Amino acid sequence: MTASTITAAGDRDRTHHLHPYTQLRQLEQEGPLVVVRGDGVRVFDEHGNGYIEGMAGLWCASLGFSERRLADAAARQMQVLPYYHAFSGKVPGPVTELVAQLARWAPTPALKAGRVLFANSGSESNDTAFKLVHYYNNARGRPNKKKIIARDKAYHGVTVAAASMSGIAMMHQHFDLPLPGVVRVGCPHAYRFARDGESPTQFGERLARELDETIVREGPDTVAAFIAEPVQGAGGVIIPPPGYFERVQAVLKKHDVLLIADEVITGFGRLGQPFGTQVFGLQPDLLTVAKMLTSAYLPMSALYVSDAIYQVIADTSAAVGSFGHGYTYSGHPVACAVALETLRIYESDDVIGHVQKVAPRLQQGLQQRFAGHEIVGDVRGLGLIGAIELAADPAKRQPFDPARGVGAYFVRRAQAHGLIVRVLGGDIIAFSPPLIITEAEIDEMLAKAEAALTDTLAWVKSWKG
Ligand SMILES: Cc1ncc(COP(=O)(O)O)c(C=O)c1O
Repeated sequence: MTASTITAAGDRDRTHHLHPYTQLRQLEQEGPLVVVRGDGVRVFDEHGNGYIEGMAGLWCASLGFSERRLADAAARQMQVLPYYHAFSGKVPGPVTELVAQLARWAPTPALKAGRVLFANSGSESNDTAFKLVHYYNNARGRPNKKKIIARDKAYHGVTVAAASMSGIAMMHQHFDLPLPGVVRVGCPHAYRFARDGESPTQFGERLARELDETIVREGPDTVAAFIAEPVQGAGGVIIPPPGYFERVQAVLKKHDVLLIADEVITGFGRLGQPFGTQVFGLQPDLLTVAKMLTSAYLPMSALYVSDAIYQVIADTSAAVGSFGHGYTYSGHPVACAVALETLRIYESDDVIGHVQKVAPRLQQGLQQRFAGHEIVGDVRGLGLIGAIELAADPAKRQPFDPARGVGAYFVRRAQAHGLIVRVLGGDIIAFSPPLIITEAEIDEMLAKAEAALTDTLAWVKSWKG
């Protein structure tokens, strides 16, 4: 878009709106893409142009953009009880159903026997997990056991604590973050960080060893928890190598360190199982979900708390007089009604079975169309998440100069071909479509991506020679 084509809506937006995660000066010049309507896996801009939403928005609109049953569930709840809260012994009716459903969905016995605490975003639930780790260890008389280990390229959200646990430089620069007490370890991105000659499994073993050394160096009595996304999303769609989590969990167990699973992207079927916890055999003490809990139709997140942690919190609340935490909208009844309907649809329409059926089309399609391409270094994915990592010299795993904006160029060309995808740091193109996508729509999405890559290669050649 150019200044001359900015519409009235775009002009209002660039004049008054401070956009999240945006290059703001560029937005002032170019204006936004104003999205006004959705239908299935597609969204439409104000001119009527359609786009396949290859990211389900922000990894979240699992049921696409026109699921009437969710709209109806929200409308019904709005008319009966539009708001109530869960403070001081009260509870909105739909919450009582949702907690029971979430207990049914819980991926481990420890979480099933525990409790669920609601918030409105993934960031808030991770922030709450951070707070609970402190609360728990204080209550257990271990006030020095507070450090949280988080990984490079982690994305846990933007509140002060969640951004601190995240491992992306832009989220810390100029914000005086991270908070003290967050300790960083390496991420299991084999393509980028495995040493020459090191197999993915050996790479995973090395990371687990380095985690062990880090805990020993910091002092196990000072390390409280390790937080991890089963598959790292915003940091680059990073699929852990075989055996990685098994080894990591053995290290955590040895040092009595809690595991926080951030399933904000992976919860409710993205990987072909209800949770990443099941895919990787995790035993988390705390687990966060958001996004696909409501198919993103309303904001809602939840933190699963294991029974062991819950018991300590409950005793402490009795001693202190109350559990001193909660949001005005924790367990909002309209969001609850939408979450309940979303979970019903996942089961009645066998959405996770559908993911298992169509995921090979995405994974094989990505490999067939992009692996070995002259500016593609790596192609990876699992379930309905995938990525192409662009590279200046794939043989040497050499990335493009970030200043060139090659990934951003790809995204612009994809948009011109009717596809919305996202570029992550390191010129990584991410795919995370709605879970309801069909095989034909996957083919269409990948064909558009291929056209964007052809354009990108031509552009790269124009300056690379
Ligand atoms: C793994 C993960 N955790 C947490 C968050 C933060 O969620 P929210 O943007 O709802 O605060 C995100 C957002 O993309 C995420 O991908």
